Amino acid sequence: MLPFPLVQNLISKNIMASSKSFQLRPIQEGDILNRLSLGKESYTPLKIFLRKAALNFHQNNVAKTYVMADETARVWGYVTLMNSEIILNENQKPEELYDPTRYEAFPAVKIARLAIDKSMQGQGYGKDMLEWVITLVRDKISPFVGCRFLVVDAKQDSISFYQKSGFNLLDIEAMDDHPPMFLDLDMIAPEN
Ligand SMILES: CC(C)(COP(=O)(O)OP(=O)(O)OC[C@H]1O[C@@H](n2cnc3c(N)ncnc32)[C@H](O)[C@@H]1OP(=O)(O)O)[C@@H](O)C(=O)NCCC(=O)NCCS
Repeated sequence: MLPFPLVQNLISKNIMASSKSFQLRPIQEGDILNRLSLGKESYTPLKIFLRKAALNFHQNNVAKTYVMADETARVWGYVTLMNSEIILNENQKPEELYDPTRYEAFPAVKIARLAIDKSMQGQGYGKDMLEWVITLVRDKISPFVGCRFLVVDAKQDSISFYQKSGFNLLDIEAMDDHPPMFLDLDMIAPEN
């Protein structure tokens, strides 16, 4: 069972302008998922996933979704996580990870989706959620099953957002629409 108390305690913050408070918690039946607004048309798949697939994937252990919800269960943001792996370039491999012939791919958790409602963007919520994910995987998953990396197929627009939290581009040459990025969790100092 995932550490729900950690989930519940981590984000419950007030927005000064409207005194609204949000909770980051697992998605559940009854959540209002259809009012998330992201602005650009290219973000529509993020909205459709939340409305149509997120709860089903969550209940069936395919991918786990955590929502930023208000007291009416309206969802203003979400993050979806699933298992994955990463094949690092030779020059990006941490020195202590040797023998690439036997271990070409390394275990990772993938941020499959991450979105914050347009009206809430730029207020630190995305960063809070990302920091929560980093803490969850580093402290509650990696020590028990071995999982060294976080990965994400970023959108071009969000590359700097991830870089600010320590993510690197996997292939700096690629002109991919969704460039793969990774974070080495052992490079992030544990919290006290
Ligand atoms: C990307 C996204 C999740 C960021 O969430 P957010 O709440 O707006 O971001 P924050 O306010 O927490 O920003 C954290 C930092 O990243 C920066 N940042 C946020 N979005 C950025 C962007 N698109 N480009 C560059 N920097 C960005 C902020 O300026 C801030 O920097 P600071 O710490 O130096 O002040 C959100 O803007 C979003 O949902 N975008 C649309 C969907 C999307 O692109 N999702 C990512 C899919 S991979």
